[in-house]
Amino acid sequence: MIKKTEGRRLKIAERENSILSHKQIVLVLDFGAQYSQLIARRVRECRVYSEIVPPSITAEEIKKINPKAIILSGGPNSVFEEGSLKCDPEIFNLGIPILGICYGHQLISYMLNGEVRRGEKAEYGKTELFVIDDSDIFAGLNPDLIAWMSHSDVVVKPPPGFKVTAYTRSTPVAAMSCPEKKIFGVQFHPEVVHTPWGIEVIRNFLYNQAGCEPLWTTTSYIQSALEYIRETVKEGGKVICALSGGVDSAVTAVLVHKVVGDNLYCIFVNHGLLRKGEVEDVLRTFRENFKMNLVYVNGEERFFSRLKGVTDPEEKRKIIGEEFVKVFEEEASKLEDVRYLAQGTLYPDVIESGTERAARIKTHHNVGGLPLRMKLKLIEPLRYLFKDEVRQMGEELGLSSDIVWRHPFPGPGLAIRIIGEVTPQKAEILREADAIVVEEIKKAGLYRSVWQSFAVLLPVRTVGVMGDRRTYDYVIAVRVVSSEDAMTADWVRLPYEVLENISNRITREVQGVNRVVYDISSKPPATIEWE
Ligand code: XMP
Repeated sequence: MIKKTEGRRLKIAERENSILSHKQIVLVLDFGAQYSQLIARRVRECRVYSEIVPPSITAEEIKKINPKAIILSGGPNSVFEEGSLKCDPEIFNLGIPILGICYGHQLISYMLNGEVRRGEKAEYGKTELFVIDDSDIFAGLNPDLIAWMSHSDVVVKPPPGFKVTAYTRSTPVAAMSCPEKKIFGVQFHPEVVHTPWGIEVIRNFLYNQAGCEPLWTTTSYIQSALEYIRETVKEGGKVICALSGGVDSAVTAVLVHKVVGDNLYCIFVNHGLLRKGEVEDVLRTFRENFKMNLVYVNGEERFFSRLKGVTDPEEKRKIIGEEFVKVFEEEASKLEDVRYLAQGTLYPDVIESGTERAARIKTHHNVGGLPLRMKLKLIEPLRYLFKDEVRQMGEELGLSSDIVWRHPFPGPGLAIRIIGEVTPQKAEILREADAIVVEEIKKAGLYRSVWQSFAVLLPVRTVGVMGDRRTYDYVIAVRVVSSEDAMTADWVRLPYEVLENISNRITREVQGVNRVVYDISSKPPATIEWE
């Protein structure tokens, strides 16, 4: 999978190139919260287009974008810290409805002359919230609610012209509003699942206070993406696209194909580390169903021979990344008049590559240098979309549900799930075990609700007994996690019967494995993948 193009910054100016800009947009000013992306996603779930922008955006720039509403996100700072992020004060005079969340709520109070007090002790987790005014953002909700809190500073007095709309036992102003200026603040996090009714607050704000309408639909974003592609390729020439078997590159290819037809050449490199059935699936879908030009490269031998003896995870990634680019470039250079590279970059990748927070824990392989070397223009029709939106698009475009709902899969594939040296034999063992995990999770009806489910092959062998015979075979670790965005994850409490079926089938059906263990580590401190 090609991901994480380096060095791009999220600039306001970039928006001007974005055909996806919508006539009705909500801006989320990102003060560094873990949950900013989630806020933007919740807004889009309300069918209103939203984008995340840096808090340094000026009121003038906002005026040009002309959003229907602004949301000030949470953040790790205290308003009292020197150099803590603030917004342009003129934003409060634009007449655009504003909702401040957590740090955003404190910032409104601080900047508009309310009173914020340094917190001595943090209010964290599920907290009882008492609503005393349900005339605006709490409309239709019960007066006693459970809300998710995570803060230490507290607003003790709202700014002049504001009224208190909710409190908790330790926060006198847990929510406030200024109906005249349509500025609202909430101390809790309405965007997280632990505030289950939080989406109602967001809906009330968007529809009743900011006058938004639910216009951001699958059809509308397919149309926007097609328009953007048409505009980008208007000078003609060929487009190449790396297919990985995942939903992002598949949707990208189908969209581009709709516009340029036979001028699209998809390149599908099999590095020998794909999941069971993936190669056949991709060939069938794109060659037979969509009738696309598809260059299939079986690079198994090349990749395995370069991986021989390599055990370091980052080294594996580097080798696979380099080899991938080499193969891709070789194939691309056989084609004439190639001018564009289509890539399934998603919005979270774009946002992440534009922030300092994007500390690289693991190197994600990509074809980063390729467009420049080959003088190719990038086509990234998904760069303003979240994964769930891409999946909806995939369904509407007629991709099979196998491709649309397939769990995320790392670019280096099974190589980083085979701990230690990677060999074709180990890849075969893992592929079989992995297929059983996925099949059983699907059979239990859990596939769509979990983030990822897969098998990992450990480099240890243990003693077992089969019939009357002693065995000395490999251990498979099963990993099933839930997550919203892969930044944090938890292990799924699978029913014992599902675990039992997985274990029984793997030890019975996969030769070379006599033991199965379940990974019960969350992220952090572990990561989702083992390498
Ligand atoms: P971790 O293991 O860092 O994974 O918790 C977070 C998400 O990223 C995927 N992942 C990768 N994707 N190349 C990719 O394209 C990689 O090298 C890579 N490593 C991890 C992982 O599957 C999970 O969804």
